[in-house]
Amino acid sequence: MKILNVVGARPNFMKIAPLMAEYGRHENIHAILVHTGQHYDEIMSNLFFRELGIPEPDINLEVGSGSHAVQTAEIMKRFEPVLVEHKPDVVVVVGDVNSTIACGLVAVKSGARLVHIEAGLRSGDRSMPEEINRVLTDSISDFLFCTEQSGVDNLLKEGIAKEKIHLVGHVMIDTLLSNLEKAKKSTIIDQLRKKGCLDGDAFAMLTMHRPSNVDDPKTFSRILDALEVIQKELPILFPIHPRTRKNLNALGLQDRMDSLRNIHIMDPIGYLDFLKLNSCAKVVLTDSGGIQEETTVLKVPCITLRENTERPVTAEIGSNQIVGTDPQRILAAYRNATSGKWREPQIPPLWDGKAAQRIVKILLEEL
Ligand code: UD1
Repeated sequence: MKILNVVGARPNFMKIAPLMAEYGRHENIHAILVHTGQHYDEIMSNLFFRELGIPEPDINLEVGSGSHAVQTAEIMKRFEPVLVEHKPDVVVVVGDVNSTIACGLVAVKSGARLVHIEAGLRSGDRSMPEEINRVLTDSISDFLFCTEQSGVDNLLKEGIAKEKIHLVGHVMIDTLLSNLEKAKKSTIIDQLRKKGCLDGDAFAMLTMHRPSNVDDPKTFSRILDALEVIQKELPILFPIHPRTRKNLNALGLQDRMDSLRNIHIMDPIGYLDFLKLNSCAKVVLTDSGGIQEETTVLKVPCITLRENTERPVTAEIGSNQIVGTDPQRILAAYRNATSGKWREPQIPPLWDGKAAQRIVKILLEEL
């Protein structure tokens, strides 16, 4: 069976890693890896391939950045000849980025069977580009692999045939569990101490890159109001996404950020260092999707700077609290987290490190 796998942006890499490893255990699978080049910097892309032992992509479409239309269209144009040449039986797309829908759409029209990993997640917020990517990719997929029960329920509500839907757990958590020991050996905390970013053991982690937070100066400033208070009590480590770094300048917020002396901005960091920091943080503040899930497994309190989540299990039984961008709500959640009142989280069903095995078994049985 010829399986062509697509990755494009940073959160895709940890999802494809365990699948590539699992394909390697089956002689009857021929796996091809295509990188669209949506993310292309050393620290946004190559580093993850090395750390996670993902094979070099067989093909890199090198699309780079662009508006949604330009990026999506360019990926489609460059992906079509790859399918014509390789004629895969199956195309696997992961997550909800522009590469996911662009390659999914080209794949189904070429006659390949489309597999969507991390299917069914819904924030209900159609102003998020990822939500559009999710709904459209799911509607054209032949195999829909879900990480949590809400995903299954959403797909059934949207009229997707139940035979196509499989609850298998989470490939991103496969990667987390298999790298945790390695991450513990990371020296990032010592390095940050030497640089003077940390003195004691306690710190908060921050990540922020959603257009709704970092493209809008009012929202960005409101979040800074809360961070200003928090950094007086706890150093905040902030590996900054390129979009956010650009916007600090473009929106005239750089001076204010610079005045917050205990927020330590750093370049984006690799997977293992990031995992180490998140696992040791007192609290994580984020607008990412995946980090809500990773902190649940790490049992570290997570404050989500968004009004909604497409990953409700993390808030229902995990360590996540959805607070939005109101400074008072952010601070209340922070006080709750640091006063030890946070509820003991549970790990969602099937987040046990075996999702990739389940997925490949199902594909081999059904194709
Ligand atoms: C994309 C995904 C988002 C995901 C995020 C993770 C979509 C619609 N969005 O958002 O779901 O959470 O990736 O990071 O697919 N840039 C660099 N170097 C890179 C890549 C990007 O400097 O390697 C800069 C460029 O200036 C680019 C900007 O970051 O314009 C945004 O990149 P883009 O891929 O358009 O969207 P993300 O915000 O990264």
